[in-house]
Amino acid sequence: MEVLKKDVEINRQHLEAVQGVGSNKNDVEIKGAFKQFGANVVLNGIDLEVKQGELLTLLGPSGCGKSTTLNLIAGFLDPDRGEVHIKGNNVTKVPPYKRDLGMVFQTYSLFPHMTVYENLSFGLKLRKVGKAEQKKKISKALELVKMSGLENRYPRELSGGQRQRVAISRALVVEPELLLLDEPLSNLDAKLRHELRAEIKRLQKEIGVTTIFVTHDQEEALSMSDRVVVMNAGKIEQISTPTEIYNHPKTEFVFQFIGKSNCFEGNVSAVDKRKVAVKIGSDITHVDTNNVMGNESDLKTGDEVKLYIRPEKLQVVSLDEKSSSPLDFHRAKISQMNYLGTSWEINVLLQGKSIQVLTSAFDSSWQNGSEVLIGWSPSEVMLVKK
Ligand SMILES: Nc1ncnc2c1ncn2[C@@H]1O[C@H](COP(=O)(O)OP(=O)(O)O)[C@@H](O)[C@H]1O
Ligand SMILES: [Mg+2]
Repeated sequence: MEVLKKDVEINRQHLEAVQGVGSNKNDVEIKGAFKQFGANVVLNGIDLEVKQGELLTLLGPSGCGKSTTLNLIAGFLDPDRGEVHIKGNNVTKVPPYKRDLGMVFQTYSLFPHMTVYENLSFGLKLRKVGKAEQKKKISKALELVKMSGLENRYPRELSGGQRQRVAISRALVVEPELLLLDEPLSNLDAKLRHELRAEIKRLQKEIGVTTIFVTHDQEEALSMSDRVVVMNAGKIEQISTPTEIYNHPKTEFVFQFIGKSNCFEGNVSAVDKRKVAVKIGSDITHVDTNNVMGNESDLKTGDEVKLYIRPEKLQVVSLDEKSSSPLDFHRAKISQMNYLGTSWEINVLLQGKSIQVLTSAFDSSWQNGSEVLIGWSPSEVMLVKK
């Protein structure tokens, strides 16, 4: 009985993790959205569901269509085809001001001739909120972003980070149904970015507002989000939790865009239900069939394939150290070693190809030119057909 209870709890936690906040209700849905500017197809069939209370991030390289997607949700743009639904209502033709949104952009969008207080009261006035009520709401919204006491400052009297805090506060003061943030941290220096990242995440969880965050920075996306949407050239490549995106990328693009990767080329030498054997040079290595990106049933002996593996998933051991571990080991030669404080970055040559390894296990006898074994588990290698 105890065991069963534990299983139920683990299952619940797992579901919550996957579903963001344990809710199945969608606050936003985009259905089959296409958008073209002239001959440039910018969104090529976007389907997306954002769950109530979650922080969902659109991640992808510059120009892939993130802002366009956000602007469809905000109502600044119409899709050429497809629909946008908010809280179950089709809002495709509804203007932005009727969508009940808070929005923050990359460049500071505060009114320069208004004080912080006036910037915040702007939206409240539009909504006909009384003076006394405004005061209460503004004071609370500024407290949320740790800007209490700066009500009378003008934007030019604030630092970049403070301006973005005010911009976030202004978006939240009207208690919107949805918070949309388009690269709000991109103009800030690294330290501030880190600080505000953590704060936005805390704040979002505190008030529970459904949030769509846009960034081209993978670390920002992985560290902040309940789920990440990886976009590329107007399409969605994968929607998943940060750990799934990192550990089980569905496509070659996702693997390469997120984190560091090594790539080798080889030929399939055998395929069975559980593993694919691949010949790289004179070595054979194995990949779990689960890790075949694309359609694994298409793979056959002789196919040219690419193998991807992350530097921290590789092990380096001395030649005599090879144990009965389930890893595949291959002979390699150290070409460079860099000490990074908490770990070592070791470059090795394997079959003439340079491979990067990140490891904290280090043998003091190793030096440039040392022969070592590098090993990896078939469950850590991703395979894609060339
Ligand atoms: N108003 C517009 N008119 C013409 N082209 C546009 C317009 N807005 C965006 N684009 C183009 O659409 C593509 C996607 O833009 P955008 O959604 O802003 O990308 P991201 O936010 O991912 O960097 C880019 O090629 C951009 O140049
Ligand atoms: Mg953009």
